[in-house]
Amino acid sequence: MQLDLDFIRQQFPIFQTELGQKIGFFDNAGGSYPAATTVNRLTDFYTNYKVQPYGNNPIAQKAGEAMDLGRHTMAELLHVSIDELTIGASSTQNLNTLAAACKSIVTKGTEVIVSEQDHEANIGGWERLCRQQGATLSIWKVDPQSGELWLEDLEKLISDKTKVVAVTHSSNIIGTINPINEIAKIIEPYGSRLVVDGVSFAPHEIPNLDELKADAYVFSTYKTYGTHQGVMVVRKNFLGDLDPQCHFFNRSIHYKWLDSAGPDHASIAALAGIGEYFSAVYDHHFQADDLPLHEKARKASHIMNAYEQMICAQLLDGLRELPLRIYGKNTIENREATISMRSEKYTSKEMVDALSNYNIAAKNSHFYAYRLLSTMKVKDLDDGVLRLSLSHYNSLEEVNRVLEALRKLF
Ligand SMILES: Cc1ncc(COP(=O)(O)O)c(C=O)c1O
Repeated sequence: MQLDLDFIRQQFPIFQTELGQKIGFFDNAGGSYPAATTVNRLTDFYTNYKVQPYGNNPIAQKAGEAMDLGRHTMAELLHVSIDELTIGASSTQNLNTLAAACKSIVTKGTEVIVSEQDHEANIGGWERLCRQQGATLSIWKVDPQSGELWLEDLEKLISDKTKVVAVTHSSNIIGTINPINEIAKIIEPYGSRLVVDGVSFAPHEIPNLDELKADAYVFSTYKTYGTHQGVMVVRKNFLGDLDPQCHFFNRSIHYKWLDSAGPDHASIAALAGIGEYFSAVYDHHFQADDLPLHEKARKASHIMNAYEQMICAQLLDGLRELPLRIYGKNTIENREATISMRSEKYTSKEMVDALSNYNIAAKNSHFYAYRLLSTMKVKDLDDGVLRLSLSHYNSLEEVNRVLEALRKLF
């Protein structure tokens, strides 16, 4: 089954605009375009019922119903219970709240292991927690050349003191996919909890949380065609060990335990739009039937990913011919469609500017994976790497335009 790119692009309002048609967008790991279904849900909320929800009047009731639908749709999409799903302002916020909730677990003399490959969002909160509690923060180091994490290093690091292991599902720099279930197997005998940052994985594949043995899994909906929020699944047997971060009188509502702030109501309602988008992709490519949403989403995601891998492989083929250092693997195997590189001749910013002359939007930075880039000896961390991150709505013509611009430069 091949992805129908024309159909896909029709589902995103940006491709109906002049700029959207002109620009080849390769900063998707920073944030994706929202689907029309998301925009419609958001507009509907702001137009028709943007009041304090759940009040005793028809407008407030509609607002509450729309929010419930958004929350339920996300739970159905991920095939988890509402009680296990926290919606927060962002993934950083969710991970910080989770770390703060681990105070009774991470106590003096215990340990948290974080990976050096991670975005700072899944490190900083754990570091602060360890400092406050008199616990040890241990770093699971990457291979400085490849940026990869080796399982034997984790085996050496882990001990009876380890209470939490925090690791990314895939790297937002080198794109590599980490073997979460093998990691879970290593840490299981020690009884530690596995916290997985799925922010750079989820935009490429809807995570199958039935299979993944994570105690907590986090990703950002503004990178998965939705509104600017983070969702966090915390499994019931982990949740029960945590210190609730909500008002004391809300403790009977489990999904509020780790929601200390209460994110934008309209954005919660608009989460329904992500489910509708996956459903529409499934119905168009397979058949309109009443399969549960998570099954539709997984099948749709599968063909979206296969297409994206195909165009990413072509991009990698072209990039390998150029005088560029590609960080991590320079082939498509076991990686997401996110590629980072540097040149000896040009700064990363100069390459971004050269691409921009060809109407290609890309970005250079350390992308908050500061520790990874510094271990990989990236000279100027502010200039960082040029990152090209693809989505399933990118075209082969756009990939070729990237290569044409870079060939011209070298
Ligand atoms: C891998 C990874 N983790 C975490 C984050 C933080 O996500 P948020 O912006 O929702 O806090 C990002 C953001 O780019 C990311 O790429």
